[in-house]
Amino acid sequence: MKPSTLDIKIEKAKNSKISQVDFNNLAFGSIFSDHMLVCDYKNGAWESPKIVPYGPITLQPSAKIFHYGQSIFEGMKAYKDVDGAMWLFRPIDNHKRFNISASRMAMPEIPESHFMEGLKALLKLDEKWIPEIDGSAMYIRPFMFASGEGFHASPADEYKFIIALAPSGAYFSGSVKVLIEEKYSRSANGGVGYAKTGGNYAGQFHPTQLAKLKGYQQVVWTDDHTHENIEEAGAMNIFVRIGDTLITGPTSDRILDGITRKSILQIAEANAIKTEVRTLTVTEIVEAAKNGTLKEMFGAGTAAVVSPISAFGYKGEDYDLPEIENGYADLMKKTITDIQYNRAADNYGWRYGIDI
Ligand code: PLP
Ligand code: COI
Repeated sequence: MKPSTLDIKIEKAKNSKISQVDFNNLAFGSIFSDHMLVCDYKNGAWESPKIVPYGPITLQPSAKIFHYGQSIFEGMKAYKDVDGAMWLFRPIDNHKRFNISASRMAMPEIPESHFMEGLKALLKLDEKWIPEIDGSAMYIRPFMFASGEGFHASPADEYKFIIALAPSGAYFSGSVKVLIEEKYSRSANGGVGYAKTGGNYAGQFHPTQLAKLKGYQQVVWTDDHTHENIEEAGAMNIFVRIGDTLITGPTSDRILDGITRKSILQIAEANAIKTEVRTLTVTEIVEAAKNGTLKEMFGAGTAAVVSPISAFGYKGEDYDLPEIENGYADLMKKTITDIQYNRAADNYGWRYGIDI
């Protein structure tokens, strides 16, 4: 193990809550481990991270997070293999994206040492909380928000970085029915769509609630200008298979540069699957659904892994996707999870050992 360069003080929880947890029936992101990592940014610098019992934090009502929404987060997972070793998946990419989000929201970047050493120390302390059941994992939520005070509409001078851990089961149970959005937008050119910032998600809740009332679980976001170009599916990147070609939209300042998305593109290439990264239109998928060439649609993301889409709704019509055996979604999910849980060789260099 590399020597730690940070002095991470640990205050242990007096009593562990772990005996209250039913690891066989884990929901997604709704119970939290015994500890969290907390790190404050004050006087222009990050202090040393501390590990403390998971619990409430105190903030002034004038903290800028409440008023101007300076907040960012990441989503990662830790996995245990059959021998009990702990693994992460491409965590340095999450750190890099965290700082991309920070910079867009005029927040201070966090050094890789604080992020990675803090995370590893936290996971080692709460190691027993990492589920050992297939399909479950430790969902990791690093986040940062403006704790500095003031009603002046300008960036805060103090921030809090926290990592909390939630042993989690699947994000979706089964396949997903989606509604292609014709009115609302998730993001716009020059906006913050590519940043993992809270408001991006809050803005999705109302349109998603409306879609749920109509019987859909997620919204497929289209471009804000024409609503003709397919962009993302809820909090996932979206892939469409027409014939034998796998298509996804290009990343832009409207679309999150998903780590699962870019992994899928690499896996496709390694499996000689033809891919196209290009603008994908609603007209094209409706046409493909009608003429039978639309074979698969799926969402991709850390929380949801690879989630097949069973049907999409558009302009009052539903288009069902036939169930397909050994589809691209199955291949992608298997390849990714086999690497994540250390069940297969990792030819890509994505698996990251926590003890290394
Ligand atoms: N798109 C959005 C809006 C997301 O919130 C996420 C989740 O992180 C993704 C895509 C997928 O990204 P990743 O695969 O890095 O988790
Ligand atoms: C993730 O996939 O990790 C995300 O951040 C999505 C989240 C909104 C649950």
